[in-house]
Amino acid sequence: MRTFEQISNLRTYLRGLRQERKTVGFVPTMGALHAGHLSLVQRARGECDVVVVSIFVNPTQFGPKEDYSKYPRDMPRDMQLTSNAGVDALFLPTSEEIYPAGFQTWVEVTEVSKPLEGALRPEHYRGVATVVTKLLNIVQPDIAYFGQKDYQQFLVVERLARDLNMPATIQMVPTLRESDGLAMSSRNVYLSEEERSAATLLSRLLSTAGQRVLAGVTSAQTLRAELEALVSAEPLATLEYIELVHPDTLKPIQTLGEGVTLVVAAVRFGKTRLIDNALIAPEGVAPPRPRVSKGV
Ligand code: PAJ
Repeated sequence: MRTFEQISNLRTYLRGLRQERKTVGFVPTMGALHAGHLSLVQRARGECDVVVVSIFVNPTQFGPKEDYSKYPRDMPRDMQLTSNAGVDALFLPTSEEIYPAGFQTWVEVTEVSKPLEGALRPEHYRGVATVVTKLLNIVQPDIAYFGQKDYQQFLVVERLARDLNMPATIQMVPTLRESDGLAMSSRNVYLSEEERSAATLLSRLLSTAGQRVLAGVTSAQTLRAELEALVSAEPLATLEYIELVHPDTLKPIQTLGEGVTLVVAAVRFGKTRLIDNALIAPEGVAPPRPRVSKGV
């Protein structure tokens, strides 16, 4: 596995491969890698000739009161994991490489960034959209892989890639979960033992939502109240939001059971904020497939 800190060196390496007509798959990450990240890598490994992973804890997507300085970092372990997973090139830029002095250009995706995470973390998606634009411009992959775990982030990236005429295919990969349903996340390491057991609530909310829709509940308001009651019953959990929304626009849905609904939640366990989501297809509606969007 090759490692690169400098954009210019990575570009030279990739230029050579492109001349050989190799296809490039790209998995951007913030490190502290787990099996969820590696499922994206595996997908890229299966579909592309060359796999590039970036590890960059992007300061501009963290709010002033968020965990940027405390975000878990373990470079030796990440290098071992990526090398074992068959990654060809690891891009490890410094903050100065990505945001040199004088930097002043931002990418803003105006609509799909607004609700849910965007409403609670005002600058977050501007930071994500900007860094992902830069990374896609640097790597110029054929396919870039993003997890369903961060569903809204996927929509933001899909939108910016289309709106800015980036040729890459943007591919969603399903959420990888622990055996008890908890979605894998770099932030799970923050949880105490008690919080870790309580955190299974999050995925249980999503499966309950699916079961209730199959059982014929059609009022989003009723279902939302039921789900909120489940969170209230867990003393270690504090609800930030749970919403039933349209999977393309993220606008609230009033009547369930007509098409695919996205149920999306953010819950705090102690100081740790976790998010999760699931797509619900009622009986008679085709089950949703992971989204993919081809560049123009
Ligand atoms: P990070 O949280 O490290 O996640 C990197 C990628 O892994 C994202 O596409 C995320 O959705 C995916 N991922 C995380 N947990 C997953 C799981 N349990 N199953 C499947 N995929 C999972 O998301 C970011 O970094 C950053 O915002 C980034 C896109 C790198 C921009 O800085």
